[in-house]
Amino acid sequence: MLKIIASNFKTNHTRKSTKNFIEDINSFLEENNISNEVFIFPTSTSLDDFNTVDNLNIGTQNAYYTKNGSFTGEIGTEQLDEFNIKTILIGHSERRHILGETQKEITLKYNYYKSLGYKIIYCVGEPLEIKEKGITDTLGYIQEQFNGIDLEYKNLIVAYEPVWAIGTGVVASVEDITVVHKKLKKKFTQPLLYGGSVKPTNLKDILEIPNVDGTLIGTSSWKEDDFKDMIKITKDIG
Ligand code: PGA
Repeated sequence: MLKIIASNFKTNHTRKSTKNFIEDINSFLEENNISNEVFIFPTSTSLDDFNTVDNLNIGTQNAYYTKNGSFTGEIGTEQLDEFNIKTILIGHSERRHILGETQKEITLKYNYYKSLGYKIIYCVGEPLEIKEKGITDTLGYIQEQFNGIDLEYKNLIVAYEPVWAIGTGVVASVEDITVVHKKLKKKFTQPLLYGGSVKPTNLKDILEIPNVDGTLIGTSSWKEDDFKDMIKITKDIG
């Protein structure tokens, strides 16, 4: 399987810069004959009807488990359908730990989007205080984040993103990633990405770790040239 690369814009880029970014990445993929699966998750205000090659997939960073209704500040499938968005990020650590999404809410969201056949990138990962307790606690914590989640869902991609490595510049060691990915891969056959301070200088080493099927990248994917470099590295790995 070709390695996957995903960019999470978080609260970055405008509608205009997102459009330029996506169009440029689309041309880049075409010109270089790159067929790896590439995902971009812009802000919801920047979603649009983008005309992209089949392997460039635009997803939403979040949406409520509804078609429409009274959920102030949220969007539902009525808004996603307008742009034919069929991919969603669920369980990201910032939504869990900053926005306070509970496992119960995450499960409701997961089941709703699963029932509609969405491609789901489902994120899990432990905070620093759990990591410091060791691998058993880490795996136990992650296991709880799988509560209510159907790991056999065919349109699922899982992303392991240790909270302490997200946006901090502290990347997990090759050993940390190796151990967790090996254990997680015993639970499901779907692709497993790593995320957390991935950048052009460490991407190759991360992609070479067994059971790493690709990466989910925040900060260092927001600069187009860096994202292109990382797409190229991902392609070269195979
Ligand atoms: P980061 O974010 O690359 O900025 O660490 C990763 C993520 O949150 O998906």
